[in-house]
Amino acid sequence: MADKGTDVFFAKQLLQKGQLVAIPTETVYGLAGNAFDEDAVLKIFKVKNRPQFDPLIVHTDSLWKVSNFVTAFSEKAQKLANAFWPGALTLLLPKSELIPDLVTSGLSKVAVRIPNHPLTLQLLSILDYPLAAPSANPFGYISPTSAQHVEAQLGEKIPYILNGGESQVGIESTVVGFEEDEAIVYRLGGISVEAIEEVIGPVSVMTHSSSNPKAPGMLKSHYAPRKPLFTSNLEQITEQYPKEKIGYLAFQNKAVGIPSKNQRLLSSIGNYEEAAKHFFSHLRYLDNLPVEVIYAEYLPEEGLGRAINDRIRRATARD
Ligand code: TXA
Ligand code: MG
Repeated sequence: MADKGTDVFFAKQLLQKGQLVAIPTETVYGLAGNAFDEDAVLKIFKVKNRPQFDPLIVHTDSLWKVSNFVTAFSEKAQKLANAFWPGALTLLLPKSELIPDLVTSGLSKVAVRIPNHPLTLQLLSILDYPLAAPSANPFGYISPTSAQHVEAQLGEKIPYILNGGESQVGIESTVVGFEEDEAIVYRLGGISVEAIEEVIGPVSVMTHSSSNPKAPGMLKSHYAPRKPLFTSNLEQITEQYPKEKIGYLAFQNKAVGIPSKNQRLLSSIGNYEEAAKHFFSHLRYLDNLPVEVIYAEYLPEEGLGRAINDRIRRATARD
C-alpha cells in the first residue's frame, strides 16, 4: 500500500530508482515517472492501464529546463507560457531526442507543462529530469483531485503519494498546439479559451470526439463514472428509477424530489472556477453512493463551464 506524505526527498529517491510517485498539481493529481527513462514511462502506461497511443504530458519547473528537451519555442508559445506558467496550460512543442518516443506515442511534439503547486515545484526543482505524468486514475475513470482519491484507486500499485491537499483548479490543463503558427486548443481545461484569446487573439478549438488513435487527447469515452450518466430527460429517469436511486449533479440549484444527500451542487453562487474545483470530487462522491444512475446538468458554454461540459459529454459516451 502506498505511503502518503510530503517528503520530496523520499519522492526523489524513488524516482531515481525508476519508480513511480503520485504528485499533486493544481489541476489533478499526476502519476509521475522520470520522462527521460523509457522503463519508468512504460510503468506509467502499465499502472494506469493506458493504451500506448495516448501520449503523456511532461512536467518541469522552469523555462530553461524546457529548452533542454524541445527544439523550438515559437513566439506565440512563449507568450502563452509567460502568461500562464506555472499553471493549467500544456503546450505541444517539437521534442528533442531526450524525450523517448514512448512519451509522445511516436509524435514529433511533446506536451509540456509547468504545474502550479508548491510541493511539486519543490520536487521538480531538485530533479535533473522532467516528470512524465498523466492523471493518476485508471484509464477512462474520474480524475483524482486529492491524495485519498489516488490511494483508493492506485494505492496498491505505487510506493508513494506526495500529499499536497485538494487540487485547487480541479480539472486538467488546457492543451494547446500549433499548426503553421496557428494556435489550436486540443483539450479544453483549467485555462479558459477566453483567457488564451486575450493573450494571442482568436484560436480554434479542435476537441471533436474521436476514438482515432491518430487524434490523441480526443478520446470520446473518458472521465466516466461506473454508474450510467444521463444529461437529458430527467422526467423519464425519475419515472424509471426510485428517487433514492438517482444521483444528481447540478451547477447552482438542487432538483425538487430527489433526496438531498443524493445531490451535489458545483457552485451555488454560479462561479465557474468553484464549479471546476468540485466537479470530479462531486462526480466521484455520487458514483460511490448506492444509486443506479447519475444525472448531470450542463453549465453555460462559457469560461470553465465549457471545459466542464466537455467532461460531462465524454463521461456520458459509452463507445
Ligand atoms: O492537468 C493535467 O494536464 C494533468 C496533470 C497531472 O498535469 N495531466 C493530464 O494528463 O491530464 P493526461 O495524460 O490524463 O492527459 C494528457 C492529454 C491527453 O489528452 C493526451 O492525449 C494529450 O494530453 N497529449 C499528451 N501529449 C500529446 C502530444 N504529444 N500530442 C497531442 N496530445 C497530447
Ligand atoms: Mg487523464
